[in-house]
Amino acid sequence: MSEYEKKNRRPVNKNIPVKVEPGEKISIKPTTLLAPVPVVLVGCSGKPDGQRPQNNLITVAWAGTVCSDPPMLSIAVRKERWSYEQIKETREFTVNLVSKDLLWATDFCGVKSGKDVDKFKECKLTAVKAEALPLAPAVKESPLTISCRVAQIIELGSHDLFIAKIVAVQVDPKIMKGQKICLDQAELTAFAHGEYYEIGSILGFFGYSIASADVLRRRLPAPAAEKAKTSRGAGYTRKVRPGDKNGSDSSRGRPRRNSNSNTSPRREYGNKPGKKK
Ligand SMILES: Cc1cc2nc3c(=O)[nH]c(=O)nc-3n(C[C@H](O)[C@H](O)[C@H](O)COP(=O)(O)O)c2cc1C
Repeated sequence: MSEYEKKNRRPVNKNIPVKVEPGEKISIKPTTLLAPVPVVLVGCSGKPDGQRPQNNLITVAWAGTVCSDPPMLSIAVRKERWSYEQIKETREFTVNLVSKDLLWATDFCGVKSGKDVDKFKECKLTAVKAEALPLAPAVKESPLTISCRVAQIIELGSHDLFIAKIVAVQVDPKIMKGQKICLDQAELTAFAHGEYYEIGSILGFFGYSIASADVLRRRLPAPAAEKAKTSRGAGYTRKVRPGDKNGSDSSRGRPRRNSNSNTSPRREYGNKPGKKK
């Protein structure tokens, strides 16, 4: 076992009770188990030692969208990171989404410090200028880069939270179909309880639980559309009755979609760039 592995070994949770009643969850000590979460490559620059202006990358899993209007996100970074000083000094960073191809580099950037290595060089990644930011680099190989300017820093404990305004977004044309961003083409990854996963096939979309059968058919692959048509709540699958044309079932309290109503999923939640969420 390497020094790194020894230092980061997961502690055995001694609080797990031996006997658990059937149907009950096991209670464990409070910990960071929100999952899955994104894993992103954060690009930054600056001179923490006053000498080396070095482009750097830090892998971050504690990242999230925090506001739609103005568009904002947050990243939580430990004070001891080299990148912490860089971001604090320049008050800017980029968030680069991680495709499967970038996963090795993402892990590497999460176990090596910019204090010791040039991570762009080691990972054979290309630092390019990020839109709307003078310093923080974008990762050319990432399918989507979000340029961020720090608005607020909140000390939380182990991590400081950098809350930032999104000032630009750059998308690889390979994942654009006309005006539409097709993130399903980006082979994105996620992080859950210490492990990386690839994002699987589409199961639904924002508002699909109340969408008509026509919309489901248009927007989902056939098996997912069929499942969506017949699902009701956890573990319940409804059989479509003869004569039930669109799979909607108002007798079970499901709202019937009215194409003129502003509660229609497309109107309310939309899938077009610029729609509010
Ligand atoms: C999957 C993964 C997720 C991580 N998430 C975070 C995070 O959210 N915040 C943080 O401060 N460090 C996080 N780290 C650790 C840093 O990426 C790591 O300490 C890195 O070497 C810091 O680089 P730097 O010293 O160049 O800033 C993560 C590492 C990995 C592998």
